[in-house]
Amino acid sequence: MPAPAIPAGFDFTDPSLWETRNPTTEFAELRRTAPVWWNAQTDEQSGGFRDGGYWVVSRHEDIKEISRKPEIFSSQRKGSIIRLPGEITADQIELTSALLVNMDPPKHTKIRRIISKGFSPRAVEGLRAALADRAAAIVRGARESGGGDFVEQVACELPLQAIAELLGVPQEDRRKVFDWSNQMLNYDDPEYGDAVTTTSAANASMEILGYAWNLAEQRRADKLDDIVSQLVHADVDGESLASDEFGFFVILLAVAGNETTRNAITHGMKAFVDNPEQWELYKAERPRTAPDEIVRWATPVTAFQRTAVEDTVLGGQEIKAGQRVGLFYSSANFDEDAFEDPFRFDITRDPNPHLGFGGTGVHYCVGANLARLEIDLMFNAIADAMPDLTQVAEPERLRSGWINGIKHWRVRYA
Ligand code: HEM
Repeated sequence: MPAPAIPAGFDFTDPSLWETRNPTTEFAELRRTAPVWWNAQTDEQSGGFRDGGYWVVSRHEDIKEISRKPEIFSSQRKGSIIRLPGEITADQIELTSALLVNMDPPKHTKIRRIISKGFSPRAVEGLRAALADRAAAIVRGARESGGGDFVEQVACELPLQAIAELLGVPQEDRRKVFDWSNQMLNYDDPEYGDAVTTTSAANASMEILGYAWNLAEQRRADKLDDIVSQLVHADVDGESLASDEFGFFVILLAVAGNETTRNAITHGMKAFVDNPEQWELYKAERPRTAPDEIVRWATPVTAFQRTAVEDTVLGGQEIKAGQRVGLFYSSANFDEDAFEDPFRFDITRDPNPHLGFGGTGVHYCVGANLARLEIDLMFNAIADAMPDLTQVAEPERLRSGWINGIKHWRVRYA
């Protein structure tokens, strides 16, 4: 294979890169010439890891293979976030292993089993009616304003309200969850953090932990018919979450369920504006395949990472114990070997084996069905009440090395 034509110093997790564009051409080059490619980093570039760099894994099948081997590719060793604030310490990285997404089996298996109770098809379906009303109200409010920022007025609202609904957080507190999640995730964007220190992210985590702790204690004392009560009270198997475990679960939800779904909705609407024939088709037929194509197209999580716990080989490439591998979902979801005509936005695509929710291993997104429901309800509400939405200005992208985000998008609703 020829050596890949990637410029010296290029970094696939550079927030400045993602602020301006998705490196589509570079990913295609890697898939073609070096599907497992060493991205060397200086200490400054490595966002807290200071370990010389990471492997960029760009092919669909290799990402699936890694995701299915947690005993070789650990989520816990260095966490699953590939780009952290520059001054983060090894101890701070270790602390993040209290989050499910950064655990390995068998601890992961136990906590995941308890948490999954809150996301059973029945629990998610039980939210449909309430969330449909909320989606309609969100769209009504936006339409009455005539025009504005689609992200703030439309896309961010349902994911927030859904998590508040799921956890029984009073709706008047949901703004707090919005601010905390922005501060926890978006440290590389000057609108929310300072890109270097961990202060704003750490403060937000502490506040959310305190808030969740209180919620758990309240439900422990006063059992209600909601998910929090279910999680903190032991079930027939005697399993439940301790108050601190519950606190970390709420942090994870605020982080995992908010930004991701919000960005799927914004990128999805932008894709419809850019592909009017798909919008016409959606309005007429509302295909059930649409939410997954929206997630593939958006790929809200650019990449997660794993760390090899032993020397191994992947796609013919030797990987050393202790080295990180980046699972670039944003490349896999456009892999020509997995998708026909991958750069075509096609809401009837079926099958659609996208990796937007992860590589189908033990960490596969526990909220995938909730996310699909939210996306479905939002686009139905938009198609019903403001089918003539137009763009006023191009979206403003988030400065982040691992979230494919849109911060603001000015539109007219009617
Ligand atoms: C379009 C929206 C979403 C996207 C693109 C997304 C994406 C992902 C991805 C890529 C993973 C990691 C998979 C892996 O490492 O193999 C993940 C895990 C997770 N997601 Fe989602 N997610 C979305 C919505 C949600 C929602 C709505 C919730 C909950 C309210 C949620 C909760 C979680 C949790 C708790 C995990 C960790 C699971 C584990 O480690 O076992 N996500 N998600």
